[in-house]
Amino acid sequence: MIIDGKKIAADLEQEIKEALMKSKKIRIPKLAMVVVGENPASISYVASKAQACKRVGIEALDLSLSETITQEDLLDHIKKLNLDPTVDGILVQVPLPSHINEGVIDEAISPKKDVDGFHPINMGKLLLGFETGFTPCTPLGTKILLERSGIEVAGKHVVIIGRSHIVGKPLATLLMQKKEGANATVTVVHSQTQDLPKITQQADILIAAMGVPHFVTANMVKEGAYVIDIGNNRIPDARKKSGYRIVGDVDFDSVKQKCRGITPVPGGVGPMTVVCLLKNTFNSYMQTIIK
Ligand code: GUN
Repeated sequence: MIIDGKKIAADLEQEIKEALMKSKKIRIPKLAMVVVGENPASISYVASKAQACKRVGIEALDLSLSETITQEDLLDHIKKLNLDPTVDGILVQVPLPSHINEGVIDEAISPKKDVDGFHPINMGKLLLGFETGFTPCTPLGTKILLERSGIEVAGKHVVIIGRSHIVGKPLATLLMQKKEGANATVTVVHSQTQDLPKITQQADILIAAMGVPHFVTANMVKEGAYVIDIGNNRIPDARKKSGYRIVGDVDFDSVKQKCRGITPVPGGVGPMTVVCLLKNTFNSYMQTIIK
């Protein structure tokens, strides 16, 4: 089975659009997206997030800042967005230039507008199982993708490759919660793990999220497992007009023969990340208009 993230994301997008149309519409929800520098992947991600906002009726405010902006000046922009009552969500696309401390930026965004869910308060709420915070978009999208594909995770061994704060750590937290759609037995493996294939071969659900093109090969996968590919890597390809193509962290062609279900790249988890950003922004908007 090819797990169709594009279709599931389109359904969820339609649900958000309808919920927004039914809301009181006191004002139009707004998402502010900050990009620092000219990273082509960041520019492309933010463009697709802005298009998705437009499709459902969320205003996207695109703030493109110079690569050389100081941390102080970036913090000033964030403070203004925090105070702006018409802004429901703020995200600062990562990676950031090396002179800017990502942790300081994560902490500067108001937790109430932190639709990426990277603020320590929202990460803490996720860890504790509170329902009042924002859950990072890729982990949330992955969980919804599994649920809507009918892939039960309760009691199953989920192995996550990668321990980033954007994906690996929050996804492990989310899937091990004592809650519906979770209750998995989770193992996180990473670059320092000894005999990594021995562990991935034990996975009922294997999730690749470490950003190494085609890292997961058939010998690392148990027969009949589900494989979720969160990788989004640009590799040079002279046949493409753009000069590159996007590939995942999984060697799709060999792994698909062996597993029960697999997500493609593109068209798997990527669209789920985008739609969860809309979901978080919509939820943030609803919180402010009901007050
Ligand atoms: N860079 C790659 N993925 C993400 C994401 O989900 N949010 C932000 N802010 N930056 C990213």
